Amino acid sequence: MTNKIDLYELLVKQIKATIEDESDLIANLSNVASLIHTTFNHHWTGYYFNKGDELVLGPFQGPVACTRISIGKGVCGSSAIEKKTYIVDNVHEFPGHIACSSQSNSEIVVPIVQMNKTAIILDIDSTNYSEFDETDQKYLEIIMSMIKEKHYEG
Ligand code: SME
Repeated sequence: MTNKIDLYELLVKQIKATIEDESDLIANLSNVASLIHTTFNHHWTGYYFNKGDELVLGPFQGPVACTRISIGKGVCGSSAIEKKTYIVDNVHEFPGHIACSSQSNSEIVVPIVQMNKTAIILDIDSTNYSEFDETDQKYLEIIMSMIKEKHYEG
């Protein structure tokens, strides 16, 4: 079986090739969500945009999700405020976790921070407990930095 590092190394190359000639943020986020989702078959892969005091659902792959999350609430809202990646081994133990799907048991959330403010959050949910680790963090942060470099300044 191909290991996770090899899958991510290939994924990063695919993402680079997919986004390099496209200037539209939504188009690139959509294809990146699809590439991550089809590589790992997680339960849900998508984004929330910071729109003032709320996070609003962006492009995603997987089941229907919550459309609005208050800044500071749940894993996504906490990441938006703290401006850092969260790995949650058991979402049911996370204070204020927002259960968009009863099947989600663990989660990783990676923000893009622009000019000291969270702009977009990548959120990936798994039906497995403890699905995500520092390898996921390292590569997903690389992937989000590729989006940031292409679409954001500062
Ligand atoms: N569980 C997230 C909400 C978003 S969904 O999982 C798609 C949270 O607590 O922030």
